[in-house]
Amino acid sequence: MTALHSGHVVRPASGSADLLRRRYSVLGPNTPMFYADDPLQIVSASGVRVTGPDGRIYLDAYNNVPHVGHCHPAVVDAVTRQLSTVNVHSRYLTDAPIAYAEALLALFPESLDRMFFTNSGSEANDLALRMARFQTRSSGILISDHSYHGNTQALAALTTGLPVSEPLGEHVRTFTAPDARDSKFSLADALAQIDSAIAELEQSGHGLSAVLFDPLFSTEGLPDLPEGYIEGLCARVRTAGGVVICDEVQSGFGRTAQHMWGFQSADFLPDMVVLGKPMGNGFPLGAVVTSAGIIEPFSADNTYFNTFATTPAAASAGHAVLKVMNSEGLLERARAVSAEFERGFRELVDGDDRLTGVRGTGMFLGMQFVDAATGAPDGPTAKVIVDAMRRNGVLIGRIGRYDEVLKIRPPLAFGVEDVPIALDAFAQSLRHIRR
Ligand SMILES: Cc1ncc(COP(=O)(O)O)c(C=O)c1O
Repeated sequence: MTALHSGHVVRPASGSADLLRRRYSVLGPNTPMFYADDPLQIVSASGVRVTGPDGRIYLDAYNNVPHVGHCHPAVVDAVTRQLSTVNVHSRYLTDAPIAYAEALLALFPESLDRMFFTNSGSEANDLALRMARFQTRSSGILISDHSYHGNTQALAALTTGLPVSEPLGEHVRTFTAPDARDSKFSLADALAQIDSAIAELEQSGHGLSAVLFDPLFSTEGLPDLPEGYIEGLCARVRTAGGVVICDEVQSGFGRTAQHMWGFQSADFLPDMVVLGKPMGNGFPLGAVVTSAGIIEPFSADNTYFNTFATTPAAASAGHAVLKVMNSEGLLERARAVSAEFERGFRELVDGDDRLTGVRGTGMFLGMQFVDAATGAPDGPTAKVIVDAMRRNGVLIGRIGRYDEVLKIRPPLAFGVEDVPIALDAFAQSLRHIRR
């Protein structure tokens, strides 16, 4: 065991100890790291597997950024070729960003026909809120009370799902995403909460600019949203003059295994869609997709320029992702994989009084741990399982208000043949907590 800084005692694999010490001395001890008491070093990756310095291979059931698979040769090749041909910013005319934007916009409903590229989900959410404010001439924002949408100052003022020192902005009001599994839940109460948040924003003079939400409510822990909730939420926002911003950073690009976009699975039409994480398969890339009616007036009054977004190399990465999704039939594969996953997990957890069943949709599944006697959320047990899964060779994570929900969100390239490996590891891991 090595004490690296006061308060930080870690037990890393011996080959990683020096790297960890060096990380602390250049990045500081507080940068977030998974498996904090025994951080995992990764030296290479391919497909849905990553390799540690000791040669151990882990199955990746967590990472959504390497969407079509870690280091996919088609993405590597497209970016490499573009980098060695030309890579300039968007104030020159180049083909790749236009061809990619055309291909991407073709995947959206007709009303969503314009876009801005960004380098990250945070930039995209920040820009979407800025455009919403411009469009509505109001500043009020509605946000769920356990959510994360990015790291800019504007987003820190509405971050409710991670520790931030910024107070909630005076122009921000929160709502709780309802869960139909909760016996105390009522759709009428959930929508009344939206009505009173909007009324407060109007009374305070902020008015309503936008609601911003992830259609899976993934940070919130994948609640089972009652029928009619999103419809009611969007209707109320629009009646009050606000716009609906759908954050597809988690739910986009086929994550639900039903449709390309989460809003299609949830059956509503947003005014703006924010993209990120899987978009470039690890090459930094994000976007706001919206309508000409929103983007054109904004652009006329605001020169929005972004040096690294819209480069041919970034566009090549994004375009290669779409092409691989198509050529490898990843959306169809995700349907088969998620059905196997769900069936296998249900077999393992149904009837177990420490778990509340399997939640989520498609390739984003969760399992909530509770105290069997009291029903209270049980984050520590979820942590035991995440750590045991890693020891058993499979990477997963945790979400939820109490970090009590296992987060299973593999690259879309995950194969049906990988599912039994993950399920076996889970069955073994559960033995750690069986009475
Ligand atoms: C739903 C959601 N939106 C936005 C972001 C921010 O994206 P980025 O880290 O690319 O800035 C995240 C990141 O975790 C996210 O989960």
